[in-house]
Amino acid sequence: MSKELVARMNKKVTQLKPSSILEFNKQISGIEGIIKLTLGEPDFNTPNHIKQAAIDAINDNDSHYTNSHGIIELREAAANYMHQKYDLNYNAEAEVLITAGATGSIYSALTAMLNPGDSVIIPTPIFPFYIPITQLNGAKPIFIDTSDNGFILSPEKLAKTIEENQDTVKAVILNYPTNPTGVTYEREDLEKSLRFLNAMIFS
Ligand SMILES: Cc1ncc(COP(=O)(O)O)c(C=O)c1O
Repeated sequence: MSKELVARMNKKVTQLKPSSILEFNKQISGIEGIIKLTLGEPDFNTPNHIKQAAIDAINDNDSHYTNSHGIIELREAAANYMHQKYDLNYNAEAEVLITAGATGSIYSALTAMLNPGDSVIIPTPIFPFYIPITQLNGAKPIFIDTSDNGFILSPEKLAKTIEENQDTVKAVILNYPTNPTGVTYEREDLEKSLRFLNAMIFS
């Protein structure tokens, strides 16, 4: 793209760094016989019944605009899954939104919350997309290195970081099992972190 065109674009976009995970994946994908641990690509093909349902939907012309939140059957299936697997109760009508992949939902959630000048606590190492999504919204990532604690963000470190940035912190990224380290969290630690977060929100 020409420099002139780049100069006319949104500065938040042109200042983003290319995704290192996508770049690395491109570099090594041609090597024969390697086991790739780069993108979160499942190691199985789309199951036949799902392929067939997609083919049937196209043949039945079931391919027009839907409710913008997603079709209700899918939202109900998502709510049922969360109930059966985690004993969580979400209202499919009011609380479930379908997006094309996790990136779209993370983008929507952060965009709905962030204002320029806010900050987002991001424990590292982290799946990289959380960083540009934060920056595109004019917010600042606050990185917490977790490598000295088995790649777990301790509730104490979280509380200290919130305290130090009380005026700007709007969100904390806490996804687990964590990509890229694979660690997960103990219930006790999560409950402790939740208490700090509640104190932050309601103080
Ligand atoms: C932690 C994490 N967040 C988000 C994504 C992006 O997910 P999607 O490809 O569904 O947009 C991935 C993909 O591997 C991920 O590991």
